[in-house]
Amino acid sequence: MAITFDQVSKTFYLDGKNITYAFFINEWNYAEHLYFGKTIGHDDLRFIRSMGGLSALAVIPGEIRPRDTWWRMDSYHVFPSELTFYGSGDYRESAVLAEDIQGVRVSELLYVSHEILPEKPAICGMPSMKGGETLVVHLQDKYNGFGCDLYYTVYEDADVVARRAVYRNNGAEPLTLRRAYSFAFSLMDQEYDCITLHGTWARERRIDKTPMHHGVFSIDSKRTTSSAVLNPFLALARKGATEEHGDVYGVSLVYSSSFVLKAEGVNDGRTLITGGINDFDFSWKLEPGTCLETPEAVLAYSNEGVGGMSRCYHDAYRRYLINDRFADQPRPLVINNWEGTYFKFNTEKLKALADGVAGTGIDTFVLDDGWFGVRNDEYSGLGDWFVNTQKLEGGLKDIIDHVHGLGMRFGLWFEPEMVSEDSDLFRAHPDWAIGAPGRPRCRTRLQFMLDLTRKEVRDYIVDAINKVLRENEIDYVKWDYNRNVTESWSVGREPERQAEFAHRYALGVYDLCERIVNANPHIFFEGCAGGGARFDPAMLAYFPQIWTSDDTDAEERTKIQYGTSLVYPLSSMSCHVSAVPNHQTKRITDLKTRTEIAHLGPTGYELDSSTFTDADREEIRNSVQAFRSIEALLYQGDLYRTENPMEGNYFGLMVVSKDKKQGVLTAYRRTLIANEDPAVLKVRGLAPEKKYYVPELELTLQGSTLMGVGLPAKFKPADFQTLVFHFLAQD
Ligand code: GLA
Repeated sequence: MAITFDQVSKTFYLDGKNITYAFFINEWNYAEHLYFGKTIGHDDLRFIRSMGGLSALAVIPGEIRPRDTWWRMDSYHVFPSELTFYGSGDYRESAVLAEDIQGVRVSELLYVSHEILPEKPAICGMPSMKGGETLVVHLQDKYNGFGCDLYYTVYEDADVVARRAVYRNNGAEPLTLRRAYSFAFSLMDQEYDCITLHGTWARERRIDKTPMHHGVFSIDSKRTTSSAVLNPFLALARKGATEEHGDVYGVSLVYSSSFVLKAEGVNDGRTLITGGINDFDFSWKLEPGTCLETPEAVLAYSNEGVGGMSRCYHDAYRRYLINDRFADQPRPLVINNWEGTYFKFNTEKLKALADGVAGTGIDTFVLDDGWFGVRNDEYSGLGDWFVNTQKLEGGLKDIIDHVHGLGMRFGLWFEPEMVSEDSDLFRAHPDWAIGAPGRPRCRTRLQFMLDLTRKEVRDYIVDAINKVLRENEIDYVKWDYNRNVTESWSVGREPERQAEFAHRYALGVYDLCERIVNANPHIFFEGCAGGGARFDPAMLAYFPQIWTSDDTDAEERTKIQYGTSLVYPLSSMSCHVSAVPNHQTKRITDLKTRTEIAHLGPTGYELDSSTFTDADREEIRNSVQAFRSIEALLYQGDLYRTENPMEGNYFGLMVVSKDKKQGVLTAYRRTLIANEDPAVLKVRGLAPEKKYYVPELELTLQGSTLMGVGLPAKFKPADFQTLVFHFLAQD
């Protein structure tokens, strides 16, 4: 039993593999948070409750205090919270704000009942973690029909708690939600740093660390997508916690639209963490008898530092989020034509690209942007999902047959959510493109976005794409998304429901994914968003791997892949070897370096392979073999980040199999520094008592020795060099 309820103290204990999460129903029927951290006993934890300070706090509404107890601090403001609500004395960040038809914005959501379900129910219309024992706590407003169900899911073999809230209108009159976050919980002090992942196009997921302070630390997206700017992830690391040691709490939202995550340093000395759907430009009308499901927030805890938290997420997402048909399976090894040709290709050129890698072990040819409609540049064609036979004279069939004839699989690029102004689709349905009355549309990347909040628009996309997939033998799809919403407004929706747009857009994306991705289980789908601008857990539920960044420069990739690995497993990061000078940074790095950095995730190639010589092919054949030999280890093992490229000259990632029998360390040095003493590379995660053969050193050494002493950083004397070490247990 992962979830237990103590009838006497009214305490819920949620036990994961190494964690306990506990809260209780207090004397006011308020769900009061008690503890989240390392596994503890099921003791009555109410002894840790504080009376709060003597300050001018609001008391519980309607309460009449005996004269001599006026100083008691019973107040919604001082209870460590599972869900903060507004208007009744709690001045912290509210997780929810509901307004009734009289404009009253006061809530008191209190415990009514609970149930423990052996299996988690799916969220209607949204992806979420699968399985896991689930607690549902039913809260009801004391004075109106507003209700809320708090969902908690725990796994006996994972160190995460998946949380969400469902807001219900159980009354007879409409309510309007002005804020509807997914969760709240409290930490008992403020000795934390907030860790977030920020970025932009081609520079995704850099790590930021901000000391916790009084007031609200907040990150968000207003882009109707999770975005490269701030990932829907927030960690609170205890002061002094490192990559390897100390308490770290993570919050990762399974959501792909505008979000917010907040950590509030409250005046009582505690920290309140909350978030979910961004309430900026948001409202949701709840008619009687309806509900709003909020996205899942996955909370993680580790006392093994930031690295430990990452391993919690990697294990949980590989096991319970990423489609289990693919999660840890060998991935297609692709040649993608984008940087090799951009829009300039014809059938002969594509065949030559495929021929160039035939027999190397690259097993999938992916035809990128430009095969459809009239699409010779970014100006036209999006939305017209029929083949451009001027470019591809034999249609798709000719090139697909050729690729299949070489023993390779065939992949195709789509950007389903978009439409070009110059397209048959836009000419036929100009109102299907998102836009507000009386305002011009932003022509970001020379394209518009389709209004996925409308069913007829989604139906068109589903039919058009499924037709291509049905009529052609397609094995792989790259699903791109290259701009963000502007002028959000939807034809036909009442004015008071227009601020539902951003969340309805996410529901539209998920509906497309259900009807295209999940309806074609024989096809492997890769996610993409102008590089990694929609790299979030919700997308991972559909796309087992996501294009990590348009920047394939090895130096930049060390930072991007390092940052991404804070939350996301290596199996989720598509990594390509591309040409030099690199198209984004103009930097020249060795093929060995580009290859070994790309080998830290599902690998592919993206260059003009039609010019490959036999020697090139031999080199690729060897590198494909090297990758396949460590692929299962990368996807299933434990990740240890050994050197942070954002803090120094070195990068290091080490992966060790769960049984500790195998390990691999990829290290990188940015620049050669004259007369520098060779550094020592850290080794982590091995079994101390096991002996490992390290082929690169031709030595057998004990795990404790390797981890204690490290390895010599004898890089080739040049800039941008890699070293890879393998560790093979001998007993
Ligand atoms: C985005 C993707 C690229 C490529 C182009 C095509 O930028 O990230 O990989 O598919 O679109 O237009």
